[in-house]
Amino acid sequence: MELILDTADVAAIKELNDLLTVTGVTTNPSIITKSKKPFDQVVKEIIDILSEDQKLFIQVLATTCDEIVEEAKYICSLRKKNMYVKIPVTHEGLKAIKKCKKLGLGVLATAIYTADQAFLAALSGADYLAPYVNRMDNFGDGVENVKELIQMLEKNHMDTKVVAASFKNTKQVHQLLVAGIQAVTIPVDVAFHMIDHPGTDSAVKTFTDDWKKAYGITALR
Ligand code: G3P
Repeated sequence: MELILDTADVAAIKELNDLLTVTGVTTNPSIITKSKKPFDQVVKEIIDILSEDQKLFIQVLATTCDEIVEEAKYICSLRKKNMYVKIPVTHEGLKAIKKCKKLGLGVLATAIYTADQAFLAALSGADYLAPYVNRMDNFGDGVENVKELIQMLEKNHMDTKVVAASFKNTKQVHQLLVAGIQAVTIPVDVAFHMIDHPGTDSAVKTFTDDWKKAYGITALR
């Protein structure tokens, strides 16, 4: 299972990369703009944080096939390995996915709102499929649609990975982990909601208080 961070917040990436076992970072144009830094700068800062075994996913802004392929080549040249281009599954995007795969580029098909869109991108060779779970809820049941997608890929013995995206709460993530999702990309707030629990803090405080009462110190010895 791959745990990926869906953010360009460099400080948060550093913090969560220390706390957790993170496979990589996904961004999209809107996420990059939220960093309030120039594109080249924020990408360099993220690359500097990641080890070479961690993956980075950067999305194209172009909307025509040839221009998408040009941007994809640039994006994939930014690192020696583990650099992936994100391409939305528009008509032009689907054409570009085929071309990028012929060029041997790592591709994540994104802005996916249905299992069928995802499946078609998988047939064209996409390495990852990013269904927008929370946004899909506006048109049906995001989690259920992604569960169907997992089945469609399994039944067809396809090894394309689903990296579920667009999470708004831990329940959505939990339901897909139970369903055996191969990867999730989660925003910073959802990551901390998954980590933190007041019960854990309270338990630790009680251990320390009991120890101090008995031995007068707050260290083991
Ligand atoms: O990678 C971005 C995708 O996860 C969309 O997220 O929160 O804009 O629906 P959101």
